[in-house]
Amino acid sequence: MLENIDINKMNRLMEENANAREIIPRLLENHHTSVSMIAHEIRNPLTLVSSSLQLMEIRHPEVKDFYNWEQTMEDVRFMCSLLDELSSFNNSSDLHHSVFSIGRLMQNIAVSFAISLDAGESGVEFVSRIDPGLGDFTGDKVKLEQLVLNLLRNAKDAVGDSGSIRFSAERENDRIVITCRDNGCGIPADRISAIFDPFVTYKENGTGLGLAAAKKIAEAHGGTITVRSVPDKETVFTVSLPV
Ligand SMILES: Nc1ncnc2c1ncn2[C@@H]1O[C@H](COP(=O)(O)OP(=O)(O)O)[C@@H](O)[C@H]1O
Ligand SMILES: [Mg+2]
Repeated sequence: MLENIDINKMNRLMEENANAREIIPRLLENHHTSVSMIAHEIRNPLTLVSSSLQLMEIRHPEVKDFYNWEQTMEDVRFMCSLLDELSSFNNSSDLHHSVFSIGRLMQNIAVSFAISLDAGESGVEFVSRIDPGLGDFTGDKVKLEQLVLNLLRNAKDAVGDSGSIRFSAERENDRIVITCRDNGCGIPADRISAIFDPFVTYKENGTGLGLAAAKKIAEAHGGTITVRSVPDKETVFTVSLPV
């Protein structure tokens, strides 16, 4: 995966050299298409494997007694979600713009997240504060929803079965500022600098693509995403988007 330093070097090369200016965008496009195609080609047979395993379980319930059955089902589920996240990470910068009420979008996300917490009967306290005067916003609604849900889901993982998550969206001059704050496990100082890099995860079943996608989506909208964390006390992700 390309890091910021590589991107800066490529930009410099493109400024200095006309051939590089022509070939680097084509290579990047090619890389993008290859990742999409590979993810798609693996997903098709994997979906068949997953359906066959489910059918097997229904027709022959005794397979559940096989010592490795649950783990196999879990591994297949994980591979499906990894491919979904890989595709969505790969497409994070392709925006489909529309004009919409960002306050309403944030409100809807907060409501569905609260419902998902209740459904899991967790003891997590969730408070949202959405400024009613956020106005209209031009951007990719679906991708912004992905961005916010990635932050809320991470907060949920961090607080476990109890704790508190505070979600807010407000207008600051010509920017929309969205924050997701939790009092969960937090991020130790030695991990924080790489936390937005792809495939960096500290969870058993994590993909490490949630924050990398969130960063790409924020930057594709001309915005930023930052984090500060005091382990076991407070972690705050802040997304700032120009209106
Ligand atoms: N709110 C949070 N509190 C503590 N750690 C977090 C939080 N959000 C993200 N992290 C850390 O950042 C890592 C990367 O997150 P992410 O990119 O979403 O991947 P994943 O959730 O699949 O691990 C997580 O594994 C976790 O260690
Ligand atoms: Mg995540």
